[in-house]
Amino acid sequence: MDNLLEMRNLAINLYRGKKKPSVKLTEGINLDIKVRQNFGIVGESGCGKSITCSSIMGLLSFPLSLDPASSIRFASTEGDVDLAHISANHMRRIRGKEISMIFQEPMTALDPMYTIESQIQEALSFHGSFSKSEAHKAALNMLEKVKIPRAEQILADYPHHLSGGMLQRVMIAIALINNPRLLIADEPTTALDVTIQAQILDLMNELRESYNTSVIMITHDLGVIAETCEEVAVFYAGQIVEQAEIKELFHATAHPYTTGLLRSVTSLGKINEPLYSISGAVPTAGEFASGCRFHDRCDHCMEICRTQMPELKEVSPGHLCRCWLHQSKEVQA
Ligand SMILES: Nc1ncnc2c1ncn2[C@@H]1O[C@H](COP(=O)(O)OP(=O)(O)OP(=O)(O)O)[C@@H](O)[C@H]1O
Ligand code: SF4
Ligand SMILES: [Mg+2]
Repeated sequence: MDNLLEMRNLAINLYRGKKKPSVKLTEGINLDIKVRQNFGIVGESGCGKSITCSSIMGLLSFPLSLDPASSIRFASTEGDVDLAHISANHMRRIRGKEISMIFQEPMTALDPMYTIESQIQEALSFHGSFSKSEAHKAALNMLEKVKIPRAEQILADYPHHLSGGMLQRVMIAIALINNPRLLIADEPTTALDVTIQAQILDLMNELRESYNTSVIMITHDLGVIAETCEEVAVFYAGQIVEQAEIKELFHATAHPYTTGLLRSVTSLGKINEPLYSISGAVPTAGEFASGCRFHDRCDHCMEICRTQMPELKEVSPGHLCRCWLHQSKEVQA
């Protein structure tokens, strides 16, 4: 396997009771994550970013389930595995050791009843056996790596003693302590103020280099993607609508949805200009319009867009887009 992770045909079903058919919250998701790559997933709220990544960690629970046709191949240290089809026990060995995740709200991910030291040590001891002093040293070392001042004292603190930025550093320490091959960061800076946000992104970039870890960065903010990622997939209503290397995406944007997301970022900071936002809202799962799922919000909507779903196709080498504007005229006629 050339890549670290190869997701194919990923679909997540939502069970809606015996009387209603299940709906697909995401479908046809194909992603390749290379070794040491920083890969971004961007899209508005409800597009399916988090559930897609939760499925990598085996964290989907009822009423959600992975469609049996999905596959998520991962180059683990024990060999290639399909995360969509391994046992719960096997997944527990991989989760936290080879694949880790950090979340938007560190306060809810940490246990208020335990010190920072015991929470870092728990992550460490789950995947190996260490003496008390070895575990203490490893925890201290890790806090220093994530640039926490007074690390010795912080180890003895409880989560509520720390600021949001410090807690997120602790979460990064916990996520990296077992030197995972893949780190999934789900909106890791959204809850932080702008200065702290920039520090955390810098820190993650630095650590990725020194740990050789691949990162999947989930965000609704293309600014964050621009600062941290090499390649990006744009999600809309449970599908990938555009995917490209970062420079290509910014300079040769192909999908009208991505153009809208970019306009909302670039209008930030422009004085005397109203903030731009894409009109309308992401459709609720199960109520997707026919044809292109973006058609009722798109300024370029054509007749075909209302009835036929465009495929995700290459518009230039390595640049994929799901839009009739870029697909053959014969089909549109
Ligand atoms: N446990 C659940 N039960 C029912 N629907 C769910 C559940 N979890 C997620 N969904 C639905 O799946 C869709 C995708 O959710 P997801 O959390 O992945 O979105 P997201 O892109 O991460 O959004 P956000 O930016 O708000 O985090 C949404 O329509 C959401 O309502
Ligand atoms: S397929 Fe049509 S409606 Fe969809 S984004 Fe392209 S132009 Fe807009
Ligand atoms: Mg989310």
